[in-house]
Amino acid sequence: MDEREIRLRQSRRRLFLKTAIGTGIGLSLVSAFYVGASLRPKAEVTPEKEPLKPGDILVYAQGGGEPKPIRLEELKPGDPFVLAYPMDPKTKVVKSGEAKNTVLVARYLPEELSPEVAQHAIEGAVAYSAVCTHLGCIISQWVAEKKAGLCPCHGGVYDLAHGAKVVAGPPPRPVPQLPLKVEDGVLVAAGEFLGEVGVKAESGFCRHV
Ligand code: FES
Repeated sequence: MDEREIRLRQSRRRLFLKTAIGTGIGLSLVSAFYVGASLRPKAEVTPEKEPLKPGDILVYAQGGGEPKPIRLEELKPGDPFVLAYPMDPKTKVVKSGEAKNTVLVARYLPEELSPEVAQHAIEGAVAYSAVCTHLGCIISQWVAEKKAGLCPCHGGVYDLAHGAKVVAGPPPRPVPQLPLKVEDGVLVAAGEFLGEVGVKAESGFCRHV
């Protein structure tokens, strides 16, 4: 074997070793990734975290004890809105474990509602997602003189009689309406939210929900 052939063999050996080491490291990384993935806790969807579904009964979010369905007759036009959660009509599980299920319900005189809003209202009662579209706080206050909903985090104000149009503050879009119907006197979701709930991905990274 001449010197040239010896060098050629040595360089092939080095190449083989490098490839073997590189592949080994690569496989280790891949397997570490998969092990890590399998160890990562999976987000568990418990019945309380199930998303709102058509047919769910709306119950008062505030007040302890037994869930209390919201009766249409309990809502008076012009009164502050109430916060609500959906309740599965069969299992009676209140879906309060997911902030995106929080709903606000207000009542107006039917003639105060814009036609688009009235389509999905019932006798002046309207419902919307209560999750602010700015950074995801809960719209929790009532502005009596405007009959509007206020997000206390940065002062976003939503005109609930007119499609939750933003009339003050930084929210980039209205909160989506929830179609309503009445069954046995209580408010029931007649469909899903008519739009995306909460903060849109491109609006920012900071989420409160
Ligand atoms: S989170 Fe509602 S106004 Fe900013």
